[in-house]
Formats: sequence, C-alpha cells, structure tokens
Amino acid sequence: MKTIIEPFRIKSVEPLRQTTAEERAGLLEEAGYNLFRLRAADILIDLLTDSGTSAMSTEQWAAMMRGDESYAGSDSYFRLKRAADDLMGFRHVIPTHQGRAAERILFSVLCKPGHIVPNNTHFDTTRANIEFTGAQAVDLVKTEAHDTQARLPFKGDMDTEGLERLIEEHGRERIPLVMVTITNNSGGGQPVSMANLEQVRAITQRHRIPFYLDACRFAENAWFIHEREAGYADWTARDIARRMFSLADGCTFSAKKDAFANIGGLLCTNDDRLAQLEEDLLILTEGFPTYGGLAGRDLDAIAVGLTEVLDPNYLQYRIASTAYLGRGISDLGADRGVPIVEPPGGHAIYIDAGRMLPHIPREQFPAQSLAVELYRHAGIRSVEIGSVMFGAHAQHELLRLAIPRRVYTQSHIDYVVEAILEVNSRKERLRGYEITAQPEFLRHFSCQFRPVS
Ligand code: F0G
Repeated sequence: MKTIIEPFRIKSVEPLRQTTAEERAGLLEEAGYNLFRLRAADILIDLLTDSGTSAMSTEQWAAMMRGDESYAGSDSYFRLKRAADDLMGFRHVIPTHQGRAAERILFSVLCKPGHIVPNNTHFDTTRANIEFTGAQAVDLVKTEAHDTQARLPFKGDMDTEGLERLIEEHGRERIPLVMVTITNNSGGGQPVSMANLEQVRAITQRHRIPFYLDACRFAENAWFIHEREAGYADWTARDIARRMFSLADGCTFSAKKDAFANIGGLLCTNDDRLAQLEEDLLILTEGFPTYGGLAGRDLDAIAVGLTEVLDPNYLQYRIASTAYLGRGISDLGADRGVPIVEPPGGHAIYIDAGRMLPHIPREQFPAQSLAVELYRHAGIRSVEIGSVMFGAHAQHELLRLAIPRRVYTQSHIDYVVEAILEVNSRKERLRGYEITAQPEFLRHFSCQFRPVS
C-alpha cells in the first residue's frame, strides 16, 4: 500500500469552534493584530506551535495514573531516568519545567559577559537566555542554507569552517560551549546530518570545548538521517538517536516536542561539577532534582513519550504528513504555488513570506501580514518567524505552520492548503503592518500592530 495513514485511532475528541470572517476581523483588531493575544477558543486550526500541543497516547495517560508524587526520590523520576539513560546515556539527567528552564540554568552556570555561544541557529529562548547573561549568541549555518529555495538534504548543518574560524579568532576561553539544534527550528525545521555532528564533535574535542545538543526534535532529526544519509538506511531511529547523543557532552531538551508531553524538559550533562552547580540553581526556582518543577505524573508521561516517539510507523507518518502540507501549497507552478523553505521541515512548513509578498518591505513585516490574513480568512493560527521575532537577527521573513503531533487529520491539512492557496490568489491586496507598542525582551508575544494605511 502506498497511502501513509495516521498510525493511531481517536478515542477522545475536542470540538472545534467555527467563527465568521467578520468576527475574526474584530478579534484581530482587539488583539492588536498579534495572534499570541487571541483566545485559543477563537481559533479553528492552531498551527502556532508543535510545543506542548501533542495528543498523548493511552499509554501516556495510563502512566500518569502511576505518577508518584513523593517530594524526593519519586519512582516517576527513576522511570524517566531509565528512559533517558537508555536513549541519551548522559551521567546526569535533571528534569526542568520546560526547555527554556534548562537553558537558563545551563547558561547561568557557563556564560558571562565577553563569552560567545555558537549554534547552527539559536531558537529565540536560547538566544535570549544567552544574551541575558551578557554573552553573545552567534548563528553559524552554511551559506547554501540561506537560500530558502535550495533543496539540500541537511540544511540544518552547522558551518564547521565558520566554527573553526570563530574559535581561532576569539580563542577557546571565550567559548564556554558549542550548541547544535536538532532539527534546526529557526532555520526551517531542517535536519543536521550525523557527519556534521561528528565534525562538530571532533572540533570541540580538539579545542576542549563542551558540545551540547538542543535536542527538542531529536527523533525527527534521526528519521531524516535514516531516510537521507548514506549508511543509515538500515539503522533504527533509536540507534541513530543514541549515536547522536553519544557525540555530545550534554543536552537541553524540551519534552513538549519529541516526547509528546504537554509540559517538561531535561538538562543533561556528563560533567559532575557542572551538574552540582546546576542542581543548586534548580532548587532555587524549579525544585528538588528528582522533580524539577514537574509533577511526578508529568515525568511518567515524558518517560513513555521518549520511547513512543521512536516508533518507525509514527516517524514515517510524521515526516510524510508535514511534507504533504508543504507539497500541497508549493508544487503548483510559479503562478499558483507558494514559496516555502525547501525541502519541507520535520515539524513545520515555513512559507517564505518575503518572497511571496515582495510588495511589503521587511520593515512592514510581510510574514505577520500573512499570519493575520490567514487567521482572518480561515481561522488558522500560524506564527511569524522573521523581523518581529528576531529583530535585526532575522535572516528571512518566514511564516511557520507548525503541526501539533497526532492532533490534526489529513482533512484538516487539506483545509489549510485550500485556505493558503486562496490567500495566495489575491496576495497583491495584502498590506504591511507597523508596531505600535512593544516590550524589550521576546517582543513577539505581546507587541501590538496596526495596518499601514
Ligand atoms: N529550543 C528549540 C529549538 C525550541 O524550538 C524551543 C521551543 C525551545 C528550545 C524552548 O523550549 O518551549 O520548552 O521552553 N520552541 C517552541 C516553538 C516554543 O514554538 O518552536 P520550551
């Protein structure tokens, strides 16, 4: 059979609420044209993020009932630790309430003003947490990857020559760690090859710099390696994931992505001294090291999710269904198709709004304009990944359609395709936006806009 089906059936459903385009126009105005400020109940299909929005399995819900809520030494922690040990193999596994808590603790311990932290592309929370310590966050992705239209198999690869140059120029003392994000979220959900991870490992080992993975979407990255990298077709996703983790000295992980959990994260390291410092900080804000800001039941959901996510049927469906959306909006010839970041990513499709809407200058946020119109037209929420989110660091003006895991069916995606193509057919009428109010940090959450007249 050629048809790839959703490899699950649905036991519990949530109704979706329909609104009219007129209602949505009013809601947008009230929200200052910032989709983060809308109420979720007013959204029909929510592609804002794949983070914490997964549908949990019956096994995960069953595991939650077994959660051990003891303050210290809970069984849930040991079940999570066993799952993480088996997969990641780091000496220390520290639970946190989500990925950014792991980042904050790691960077507080390692970074100070004058330091530089390279990454293929920093996610916004990673960048913000590094900059908050006074250190500098640097993105090092290969030049070819800047072309959104180039169809390369591993567009998330770090620019290893750039990394060597950076170390040479600034000295290893100023680089407390090197990170690689798998998959490269801000760079289009693109995977990183094993060969590239091995090169980064070799460089960091030679210079005695710790190498960390931002491992949020490790399973999707492993599947891309299985499908695309020579020599890995016969490897299981689990063995590929184990090999990726074995190359690193530690990782930050948001369990809200490739562990199907609604909350949770991990901070892992092989460094005993660092782990001690991290646990001291953890107790200040997250809690005791065997629960890290989570309930015991959350730890159990993560433990089960870490295993489930590596099921080949799930991963094949996951990557194929994301590509289905991408191909559905892009493979239609230049006049009807929408330019996306090629090839389709693992967890999301990114529309190149700068290319799609050349009449809107980047100072007027073309991807934000598209996000607003897609909501107004069809009740679909997406997210701007461009100058609103990254300010001057933005490489492109992208609109991300992130797909929650195991939540939407193919007909939902067909609806999204139809809506995007309809908006595309009258794209010349879309107008730019200007910001009217904004905070200093992570402004995309709460800033407000008005249409440029
Ligand atoms: N690193 C990456 C690559 C991420 O994509 C995220 C979150 C984080 C770290 C932080 O994890 O949310 O658990 O604190 N990404 C979400 C997104 C929010 O929509 O892409 P967190």
